[in-house]
Amino acid sequence: MSGFDKDWLKLREPADRGARSVSLLDTFTQYLSLRPQPRTIMDIGCGTGSTYRSLSPLVPGATWKLLDYEVALLDEAQRQIGAVESVEFHRQDLNHLDETLLDGVDIVTASALFDLCSAEFCDLFVEKLAARKIGLYAALNYDGKMEWTVPHPLDGQIVEDFNQHQRFDKGFGPALGPDASDHLSTLCRASGFSVKSAESPWRLGTDMAQLQTDFLEGLQRPVHEIGNTDDDVFKEWLDFRRLHTGVEGSVCIVGHTDILAVPHH
Ligand SMILES: C[S@@+](CC[C@H](N)C(=O)[O-])C[C@H]1O[C@@H](n2cnc3c(N)ncnc32)[C@H](O)[C@@H]1O
Repeated sequence: MSGFDKDWLKLREPADRGARSVSLLDTFTQYLSLRPQPRTIMDIGCGTGSTYRSLSPLVPGATWKLLDYEVALLDEAQRQIGAVESVEFHRQDLNHLDETLLDGVDIVTASALFDLCSAEFCDLFVEKLAARKIGLYAALNYDGKMEWTVPHPLDGQIVEDFNQHQRFDKGFGPALGPDASDHLSTLCRASGFSVKSAESPWRLGTDMAQLQTDFLEGLQRPVHEIGNTDDDVFKEWLDFRRLHTGVEGSVCIVGHTDILAVPHH
């Protein structure tokens, strides 16, 4: 069980859609427009289908394979997308991927996934893509930066604790966490891909107050597990932050990076 629930994914979807780098999406669309028909896209760690909903209008007529190992999320993706002939759903643990699913795929997409992955997983996965000349669009990888327009003396400590926790095993071995994008870029270049990257931060203002609140509350467990910050001190910080989520001009910035790696054909 991944621990990501459909309500959290629903809450973050508009922020993710607004954060994706437009320039990389343009290159993504151009790349696929030059590929022969039929174009096939495989979205890994699809959750409830957020990436499909953001990208499918850009590539009309493409066939999609949506993969996740969480049945509840795949069911929700299927419920939201409906019975569309061009979309297949596959229950797959990416650690034991059925590689025949990569047959005929032009590009693999993923959002908010690679920061959970280990260096070893990425190395093996990119090797499979390079061998088949399949591209990779890996969006919304957390990059370790978190800032607030209204500062608090404890911000730096909380971010440091959280970033340390992001490197714990999330099901793929020790996670790359904030290093995911740099690792993927270097790896893809070394494997012969042409790579572009761009920042895609969340900028959460009063219109995203609920996402901010849930995100802040989600920091509690990792910070507690790291153990550098007393629970009472964290609670004071959280109360301060909660108070500011609804205040005009108070913005929470969470850094992400998008990567697009395309093979030379
Ligand atoms: C942060 S969520 C992102 C979901 C979706 N891409 C989105 O942007 O809303 C990470 C997703 O990766 C999936 N996941 C994590 N580990 C996985 C694994 N080993 N195999 C397949 N899916 C996995 C989770 O179930 C979850 O749906």
